[in-house]
Amino acid sequence: MSPANLILMLSVFTGAADGYYFSTWPQCIYSYPDFRDMVFILSLNFNKLMTVQFNSTVGKFVGYTEQGVKTAEYFNKDQAYLQQMRAEVDRFCRHNAEIYGLAICDKAVKPKVILSLVKKGDSGHPYLLRCSAYDFYPQQIKMYWLRDGRVVSDVTSSEKMANGDWYYQSHSELVFSPKSGERISCVVEHSSLTKPFIIDWKPPVHEFEWDFQLLSAVGDASAVLGIVIAAAGYIYYKTKTEKNLVAIY
Ligand SMILES: *[C@@H]1O[C@H](CO)[C@@H](O)[C@H](O)[C@H]1NC(C)=O
Repeated sequence: MSPANLILMLSVFTGAADGYYFSTWPQCIYSYPDFRDMVFILSLNFNKLMTVQFNSTVGKFVGYTEQGVKTAEYFNKDQAYLQQMRAEVDRFCRHNAEIYGLAICDKAVKPKVILSLVKKGDSGHPYLLRCSAYDFYPQQIKMYWLRDGRVVSDVTSSEKMANGDWYYQSHSELVFSPKSGERISCVVEHSSLTKPFIIDWKPPVHEFEWDFQLLSAVGDASAVLGIVIAAAGYIYYKTKTEKNLVAIY
């Protein structure tokens, strides 16, 4: 290829002045592992403008520019071509998604989920709970909160990070004021799991519990035993309140 040709090609590909760039962009969009919501989209772009698009849900071409409308009309008259395009959602999308899906799914690694109380509030000050998912693959993960089974929409933060070793971690925090008897749960959805994983947090059983255990230790009148029981009580208290529930699987 001569340098002149190369420059011409570059200007075509970059859409620079005096160049034209036509592109066809097929897409398969889906969100369920069984592909039930699969959509096939074929976009025809001229320079930066989408002119015509086929959407398998619509089942025909739609034009978005003056020329695009004409092109769409032209394509839509061709029944054989339309049938072929309508079949692409199965032939092209589902077929390939199955192959990619298998390649990804058999490498999926379950997250280790930890629920921890970051900040213990009191009257007037909210609690801060953190739900962390570690060492999972692939990156796509969904984490959300339930209060007595209902989805909480005002989650303070949610972030995803690459570990740098092909695994990912993700954290979600919830600020809330606990009501007595209510159940707070963190839900994790990931392709490695056959069903959503739910981890529950229960409002702390107050300081009262630890005081009671300390008292019973003192009541025993044996210093050594007392210390042992107090230590056990303290550990119990720490685990119970600060890391209210820890599940690793
Ligand atoms: C495809 O068409 C459906 C139905 O009109 C629409 O809901 C969907 O957003 C379209 N998809 C794209 C990517 O335009």
